[in-house]
Amino acid sequence: MDEAAVIARLKACGVVPVVVIEDASLAVDLARALVAGGIDIVEVTLRRPAGLAALAAIARDVPEALAVAGTVVTPAQVQQVKDAGAQAVVSPGFSEAVDEALKAAGLPWLPGVATASDCMRAVGAGRLTCKFFPAEQAGGVSAIKALSGPFPQLQFCPTGGVGLNNLADYLALKQVICVGGSWLVPADAVANRDWARVTQLAKEASERVKALRG
Ligand code: 3PG
Repeated sequence: MDEAAVIARLKACGVVPVVVIEDASLAVDLARALVAGGIDIVEVTLRRPAGLAALAAIARDVPEALAVAGTVVTPAQVQQVKDAGAQAVVSPGFSEAVDEALKAAGLPWLPGVATASDCMRAVGAGRLTCKFFPAEQAGGVSAIKALSGPFPQLQFCPTGGVGLNNLADYLALKQVICVGGSWLVPADAVANRDWARVTQLAKEASERVKALRG
C-alpha cells in the first residue's frame, strides 16, 4: 500500500489505537475486537518482546486491519517490521538513519515531531505526515497551531495524552488527520481477554469521529 493510501486509511478511521502487548497469542483477537468496533487500524509497538510476533500475527490473520508498526527507533527494526508484514511505520521521533532505512524498504512512515527543529528535519526529508508526540505534554492543540505557522505543509497524528475527552479538539484542526492513543486497549482488558470492552471502547471512538465529521 502506498503512502497516499495509508494516509487515506488513517484519515478515514480517525483514531490509531496504540497497542503495548505482552502476549502475542492475544494479538489476533485484540485486532478483531477493534475492527468489530469500527477501528480498522492497529499500531503494535515494539516496546515489549511480543510486539514483533503480535504484528506478524495481525498482518497475517486480520487483513481487514491496517497493520502498523510502532516505536520503531532503529534501522534494524525497519527490516524486522517489514518482514513481519507491517504496512506502515510510526516512530516517537525523527532520525536520519530510520528515515533512510524506511525509504529503502519502501514503507510509509510517520516520524515523531514535537519541536520546530524536528519539523525542519522531517520537512527536509520529505516527511510531511508526522506523529505529534507527546501531544498533550508538548503543548497540545496550541502547539500544533503554532508549528503550522512555519510548517503549513505538515499534517499530524497527535498522540500522547489523547482520549475520548479531548480528541474533538485535535480533530477540529484541518492539519490533524487522525489521533493516536492507548486508551482503546487498556492493559487489563487485554490481559483478561475482555474483548467486549475493547470493542465497546473502539465503538465509542469510531462513533465520536463520525459524529464530529457529520
Ligand atoms: C505512544 O507512544 O503513542 C503513546 O505512549 C500513547 O500515549 P497514551 O498512552 O497517552 O495514549
